[in-house]
Amino acid sequence: MTRSRIAGFYNLTLDERRAQLADAADLPLSDLLPFNSLLPTDIASHMVENVVGTFSLPLGVALNFTVNGRDVLVPMVIEEPSVVAGASFMAKLVRAGGGFTATSIDPLMIGQLQVLDVENVEKAAERILANKAELLTYVDAAESSLKSRGGGARDLEVRIIAESPIGKFLVVHLVYDVRDAMGANAVNTACERLAPKIEAITSGRVHLKILSNLTDRCMAKAKCTIPVNELAIVGRDDIPPFAGESVRDGIIEAWAFAAADPYRAATHNKGIMNGVDPVVIATGNDWRAVEAGAHAYAARTGRYTSLSTWSKDDEGNLIGELEMPLAVGIVGGATKVHPAAQAALKLMRVKSANELAEIIVSVGLAQNMAALRALATEGIQRGHMSLHARQVAIAAGATGELIEKVASQMAEERIVRIERAKEILKGMKS
Ligand code: MEV
Repeated sequence: MTRSRIAGFYNLTLDERRAQLADAADLPLSDLLPFNSLLPTDIASHMVENVVGTFSLPLGVALNFTVNGRDVLVPMVIEEPSVVAGASFMAKLVRAGGGFTATSIDPLMIGQLQVLDVENVEKAAERILANKAELLTYVDAAESSLKSRGGGARDLEVRIIAESPIGKFLVVHLVYDVRDAMGANAVNTACERLAPKIEAITSGRVHLKILSNLTDRCMAKAKCTIPVNELAIVGRDDIPPFAGESVRDGIIEAWAFAAADPYRAATHNKGIMNGVDPVVIATGNDWRAVEAGAHAYAARTGRYTSLSTWSKDDEGNLIGELEMPLAVGIVGGATKVHPAAQAALKLMRVKSANELAEIIVSVGLAQNMAALRALATEGIQRGHMSLHARQVAIAAGATGELIEKVASQMAEERIVRIERAKEILKGMKS
């Protein structure tokens, strides 16, 4: 069984962290070995074209997560400081309120067929719907690995686009259950198979045949309750203390800004994606697809808004909710061939794509709360500053324990610049 609380993890060496991680995940250390090594170039060169090398990013582990009563260790691949720490800290607060409760629905993807040159679109739409059962049986008759796992075509819907730069046309949606795969290939293949049948029924021309990244039939939802007293901030140095009620209300006010204003909503949702993308990347999933779906969903009413909501319950506790499209898989594609993605899935012990989506949406909510809590209290820069200072210290040539020393001095002086880092480093070395 996994334990997601590991005391003092931050202060350990990399090797010690790996050993503790394996122990907390109840896995042999060898299962986590892919985290230590680069993606082999023979694998990389089969993944994309014109490969000349690989590009690595830090992989951190977010601690303290409990999702649906189960402790989870969350791998996050990201270049931005503060994100892993922020998610871990918020997960700790949420833990005090029982952890995240997450749900997801059947992973249904939508494949779109654009039908042009149809004489009477309304009549053609009726004819397609009249043949629905037969068309679905025809699509499903093709061999596919998803079908053998219980997936397959589920429904056909017809939409009429009344106005467009090329006038009125018809769109057919093929609703396809992708089970544990992201399913892009299966859906696109099914759309291509369906196209000649649609042309025959409509006497039209099927132009595009491609899945939609607005995956609003592949939704995941997370909820958390944070006891108001957990939100209190004890004052230190130049940071004033904040009562739990004031942090809670500050978070709700910050959310209201995003709910009402697209300029703020874009940044607010970026903070959510700071939690979502790193797990999507660590598991070898398509983060561009997840990003596209999230932002399209945020604009579904015609006005771009916040993906999350924050409120308080009758006892005054803070309640956070996040619902978003999350089309991710645990089989196929990069998830299957990338050794570190396989290790990431093992670390999380996920058994289905739904379970992975439920963890990811919980991390998105935790990350959103981390940003709002910082913005509503001491501001974002303070936390960023010390981590940024470390990056600047490294860029100035600091190594080993000098990184921390140079960074702390710069943070103390509130001058985080490479020239200053070089001066401090010179002083320390002489
Ligand atoms: C920075 O990467 C993310 C934030 O801007 C999110 C937010 O403003 O809510 C801090």
